[in-house]
Amino acid sequence: MLTTLIKQIFSGRGRATIDALLEEARTALAAKDVAATEKAAKAILAVQPRHAEASFYCGFATFQRGNYTEALAAFRDAAADGILGAEHAVLMAKCHCKLQDLVSAEQCCEIALQFEPNCRDAHLLLVAIQLPGSDYTHVISAIHQSLRPATYLEIGVAHGASIVLANGDTSAIGIDPQPDIRVPLSSNIRIIAKTSDAFFAQHDVRAEFGGRPIELAFIDGMHHFDFALRDFAHVEHHCTRNSIILIHDCYPLNRATAARDRSTIFWSGDVWRLILALKKFRPDLQICTIAAHPTGLALVRNLDPQSRVLTDNMDAIVAEFMATDYAVLDQNKQEMLNWFPNDWSKIEGLLKPADGGTHSI
Ligand SMILES: C[S@@+](CC[C@H](N)C(=O)[O-])C[C@H]1O[C@@H](n2cnc3c(N)ncnc32)[C@H](O)[C@@H]1O
Repeated sequence: MLTTLIKQIFSGRGRATIDALLEEARTALAAKDVAATEKAAKAILAVQPRHAEASFYCGFATFQRGNYTEALAAFRDAAADGILGAEHAVLMAKCHCKLQDLVSAEQCCEIALQFEPNCRDAHLLLVAIQLPGSDYTHVISAIHQSLRPATYLEIGVAHGASIVLANGDTSAIGIDPQPDIRVPLSSNIRIIAKTSDAFFAQHDVRAEFGGRPIELAFIDGMHHFDFALRDFAHVEHHCTRNSIILIHDCYPLNRATAARDRSTIFWSGDVWRLILALKKFRPDLQICTIAAHPTGLALVRNLDPQSRVLTDNMDAIVAEFMATDYAVLDQNKQEMLNWFPNDWSKIEGLLKPADGGTHSI
């Protein structure tokens, strides 16, 4: 079929045959037949060297073979009259990444997002560039290994990927209204199927831990600022000064993925507002937002379980920071959110008890 079409092109039966070859390339691409895609695309380019879609298919095939320089050249040919769409821009970004040109890679991701604001591949590539290194579960795991806390509370367990990191000698409780655990959990880990608000209202947290305070907590429940703020206030109340509270999703990628109302697949919600609120209303806390992939992990120390500041001013704090626009982060996101390097040799230093004592009472 393909050979016949190529012969027809060279025998002068042009446009209709190019259309047929394009159809051939599209079908081959849909069937993930890279060689056939490339063959059809090259046949088109042999008679019509400036053909954006055919160049794109050639770039795609070359990319699949791992030749990123050649693929980029083909993608650039395809872009001679403008980038074709989000997929084209993302593939160019991936080539730039492989060739270590991260600035161009980010620019291509931004172009992809202009075509498709919810382009998950572009979001994932951007966070891989902006927050490289180990992801939050590696950091949490290392913290568990280093601290070996007697007690651990996790809000938002989902499939269990983070609560499973608790050591066997840690008494761990996970709270989630809809837990969907997909990993085996050892007997030291208990899951309570409730919202965090219901849990704190209905349970004596200290009693749940056999009379002990919370030594380590991880807040990763509802990704809304007001929920995270309430979670923080409740958790801190059951901690000691030397306990540590971790909060997920505090270093958002961009405005769209940091919105309160979810419109993107990749989404961290408006939990970032919690960092700004704590910095203003609780300057006594020590807050570091570790640049852990994919959305940052805040580590909060120097807790004060007696503090009433958040509880007594909850409504005012929520009102003030719900009105805070994402634009406040545009100037200097790192400084505003207390960015901290994702470097274990530095993170380890954050784990020393604030008062020089131990983590437990
Ligand atoms: C992002 S997932 C947690 C992921 C998990 N910590 C991990 O790292 O694999 C968020 C979870 O929070 C739960 N959630 C939603 N609202 C909640 C609430 N009000 N209280 C506690 N958990 C909540 C959801 O059911 C969901 O399972």
